[in-house]
Amino acid sequence: MTKIRLAIGSDHGGFSLKQEVMKHLDELGIEYKDFGTYNKESCHYPVYAKAVAKAVASKEFDRGILICGTGIGISIAANKVKGIRASLCSDTYSARLTRNHNDSNILCMGERVLGVGLALDIVDAWLNAEYEGGRHQTRLDMLEED
Ligand code: RB5
Repeated sequence: MTKIRLAIGSDHGGFSLKQEVMKHLDELGIEYKDFGTYNKESCHYPVYAKAVAKAVASKEFDRGILICGTGIGISIAANKVKGIRASLCSDTYSARLTRNHNDSNILCMGERVLGVGLALDIVDAWLNAEYEGGRHQTRLDMLEED
């Protein structure tokens, strides 16, 4: 894998899994910036979703990882930002295919849905899979149309 600039964020519901994901990234030698939240106090997921999504959409970062309780709120919020293709994944097949076919630029996961082991496998599958382009690009271009 080429060097990747990764942005990561969560709300309180995804805080603990985010710590595990960051530890895993450290072990892999992958650099990232944590956009918060920085503790388990109740907070609002759109804040962190939009911060990470804007950092990716602006190309300051290559890709992002977002985690909340279910992964749903944070993925809805991230997908409001133009140019973002945020994918909520609970299995490794989807994590791989959403890179291959959707050029997913943000991976979303739910801490209350996944065990840590599966979540880290999902991260690995998503990080290591490449976009295939070709016929898929026509569809991605259509996503940007009004
Ligand atoms: C927070 O309680 C929870 O609603 C949030 O983490 C997320 O699951 C929302 O979709």
